[in-house]
Amino acid sequence: MKITDAKFAEGFIRMANDGWEQGWHERNGGNLSYRMKDEDVAEVKSLLKEDGPWNEIGTSVPDLAGEYFMVTGSGKYFRNVILDPENSCCIVKLDDKGEKYQIQWGLVNGGRPTSELPSHLMNHEVKKKASGGKHRVIYHAHTTNVIALTFVLPLEDEVFTRELWEMATECPVVFPSGIGVVGWMVPGGRDIAVATSELMKKYDVAIWAHHGMFASGEDFDLTFGLMHTVEKSAEILVKTLSMSPTKLQTITPQNFRDLAVDFNVELPEKFLYEK
Ligand code: 13P
Ligand code: ZN
Repeated sequence: MKITDAKFAEGFIRMANDGWEQGWHERNGGNLSYRMKDEDVAEVKSLLKEDGPWNEIGTSVPDLAGEYFMVTGSGKYFRNVILDPENSCCIVKLDDKGEKYQIQWGLVNGGRPTSELPSHLMNHEVKKKASGGKHRVIYHAHTTNVIALTFVLPLEDEVFTRELWEMATECPVVFPSGIGVVGWMVPGGRDIAVATSELMKKYDVAIWAHHGMFASGEDFDLTFGLMHTVEKSAEILVKTLSMSPTKLQTITPQNFRDLAVDFNVELPEKFLYEK
């Protein structure tokens, strides 16, 4: 068997390609990581190499010590993942302190995991705890319409959540806890990872101003679906704002409260402010 035949790897590759087809991954934009289950590791263990060098993650994630991740490579193109997964992705194992990683498969032509590895792993650590171990996928994409909105809306969790909820009735049901926003920061390091993972304690989605989005979820379908729903809502908002700066009618705070009852979700009142 090949690693790419394993179900988790197939799901990873399909999701990367779905993101490419949406237009969210120009050049090497975006990255994806999956926290492998014990059975995933057992399935491919005989194909993993355990003699590679150990490299610094650039942050510390002690609650992920010893875990395995499938991750896209730095500088690799999502467009190529489906054609050449062994060159575009890797499987890494973390050391027993959660400070170093070892590449055990993939990146056959050299390279390293995504430059956003600190953000991915710090988000995984936070979401693993917050979800009781259920969340396994962290996805970063350069979603066009969300990025456009970060130039015209105030960079506040309340505003982005409320405006995106209003654009499609399904939104408060898909992301009831809301969306966090990180103001512009230098990507690729620990500082932006700390800021993002702080938001991930409360939300499943974080927007990086003038850059893109991070989403977290239990599996590939849920995480891709979450990214897709938020970006679609942003597209509707961009279209609406392009037609007119004001809305003639919209979903009201009371409409959201009624929806919450019928759909059995809790919608924090901080997002249901009067405008
Ligand atoms: P990588 O190629 O290192 O994954 O970086 C792409 C990116 O989107 C950085 O934010
Ligand atoms: Zn990016």
